[in-house]
Amino acid sequence: MPASDHPSLIDLIPQAAFRATPGGRLVELNVHGRRVLGLAPGKGKKAALRACCRPPERWDHLVAALRAEGYAEDFECEWEFPGGGPAFLSVTAALVPEAADGGTVVGLLLDMGGARELQARLIESRNRLRAVADAVPDLILAVDRDFRVTLANHAAAHWMGCRVEEAAGRPCTELHGGRECPTEADPAACPVRQVFSEGRAVARVLELSGRLGRRIFGVNAASVPDGEGRCGQVALVLRDITESRAAEEEIRRLNREIQGNLEKLEDRNAQLEKALRELKEAQSHLLQSEKMASVGQLAAGVAHEINNPVGFVSSNLQTLRSYAADFRRVIELYRELAALVEREGPGEAADLAARVRAAEREADLDFLLADLDDLVAQSLEGTERVRKIVADLKDFSQVDRAELKRADLNRGIESTLNVVWNELKYKAEVHKDLGDIPLLLCYPQQLNQVFMNLLVNAAQAIEGRGEITVSTRAVDAPRPGVEIVVHDTGKGIPEEIRHRIFEPFFTTKPVGKGTGLGLHVTYKIVQRHQGTIEVESEPGRGTTFRVFLPVLEEADFAGEPDPAAPAAGAAGG
Ligand SMILES: Nc1ncnc2c1ncn2[C@@H]1O[C@H](COP(=O)(O)OP(=O)(O)O)[C@@H](O)[C@H]1O
Ligand SMILES: [Mg+2]
Repeated sequence: MPASDHPSLIDLIPQAAFRATPGGRLVELNVHGRRVLGLAPGKGKKAALRACCRPPERWDHLVAALRAEGYAEDFECEWEFPGGGPAFLSVTAALVPEAADGGTVVGLLLDMGGARELQARLIESRNRLRAVADAVPDLILAVDRDFRVTLANHAAAHWMGCRVEEAAGRPCTELHGGRECPTEADPAACPVRQVFSEGRAVARVLELSGRLGRRIFGVNAASVPDGEGRCGQVALVLRDITESRAAEEEIRRLNREIQGNLEKLEDRNAQLEKALRELKEAQSHLLQSEKMASVGQLAAGVAHEINNPVGFVSSNLQTLRSYAADFRRVIELYRELAALVEREGPGEAADLAARVRAAEREADLDFLLADLDDLVAQSLEGTERVRKIVADLKDFSQVDRAELKRADLNRGIESTLNVVWNELKYKAEVHKDLGDIPLLLCYPQQLNQVFMNLLVNAAQAIEGRGEITVSTRAVDAPRPGVEIVVHDTGKGIPEEIRHRIFEPFFTTKPVGKGTGLGLHVTYKIVQRHQGTIEVESEPGRGTTFRVFLPVLEEADFAGEPDPAAPAAGAAGG
């Protein structure tokens, strides 16, 4: 059928329709076709479709396909028609066999412009994804069911030693330098195999040897679903963790080192603790010697105190001896008288009796007899005082046999005053104001040391002569207990050293006089009795130490260290 300029049936088809020879010469073209090809009406009858194909061989492919199948659908082709620009048109055509010239090709041309655009967008998106994948230092690839690479980013191709476009089709063992797969011995360890069999993502650590050496990779593998949602390929991301592994190893090594150092530190600590213990022991010894010094000081005081009564006892006894001589003389005369009266009878006897009376008068026998009683009474009193002082001393100085008992602090103060009396009496007038106080469960000897330290400090603070007042009273609030106050009119404690006086070895006294341990020991003892000690002082006017000791039960002393521990068992200077 010849091509015609008149409308025909073919013009009713709403797409470009044509008839052409297998050689590509146009036989008939409908109105749409003309518009698509950009041909003016009546023109282009001789147009050669083949010549408009880019490349023209594409037309031959179409014809070959038609010859083989008789029919071709959506055969994509680029065209360049004389009246229009380049166009992408897909051909759907059939070969109508006619004996003469190998048949006629009848077909429709479909505008592919939209699809091309889509494709361009796809290409752009693929390029973008590829650029991103190539920018990642991790190895990214996809592997199919034949364990062949279908896609690799730049890093993966580099690792395999090829270009990105050469990676596809290579076996995935090329990741391991083409050697036997590292998971060969244990196929279950192969992440690709596992994703194919289980369909879920897996993570592994694999050591691979590639062109760039031996490296450790953290491998993440995930399924890439195909059109039907089945696992068609496996996507792999391999991150080189060799360095971070090494860093981890280094951290572990450092940890071990730190552990080692810790142990060394603990050792050192133990040594320090031992040294501290030894130091404490040494301090105890010092305190012990401090105690010895105080005991010596005490002994001197006691000796002095004993001296006095012993002195008058002995002088009384001497007097008694001379009285005794007088008695003897008088009594001898009585004896002579008696003998004479027996021998001679009266007369001379009267004479002797007169001499006896004279001797009695001379000796003042009545006085002697009366004074004899006094002397004996005084001597007895003297010995009683000696006995009491010795008892107090004993009471006081039994520091090492400290035991917890209920004691009357007033008694402790009295006996301590007796013991340190020699230290106090030349310095101060001592006032006692001892109240009605409850018995306290305590270490009485230790509290005696507290009283002694406070009293001796008070006396030592007085230049010239002053006053010391010791008072006790029962207290109810904030806790029931006893308050002991030692006040002196001494020189006081300057503000700037007041916070230091309880420190061990802090003293303002010359060497030999003070050791600086008295108040420290005092503080420790008060602390052991769960009490408090406070000081108020007005330089130049005097000082007041206020000790509060609570009423305690046995249980309050539970968990106590050795009660006779020297730290609190020493007396201070
Ligand atoms: N009653 C007081 N008056 C003034 N100063 C005092 C008094 N009691 C203590 N001190 C000061 O506190 C210091 C420490 O006292 P203490 O620990 O007993 O040691 P020491 O008496 O051996 O110096 C004393 O050197 C003194 O300066
Ligand atoms: Mg002292």
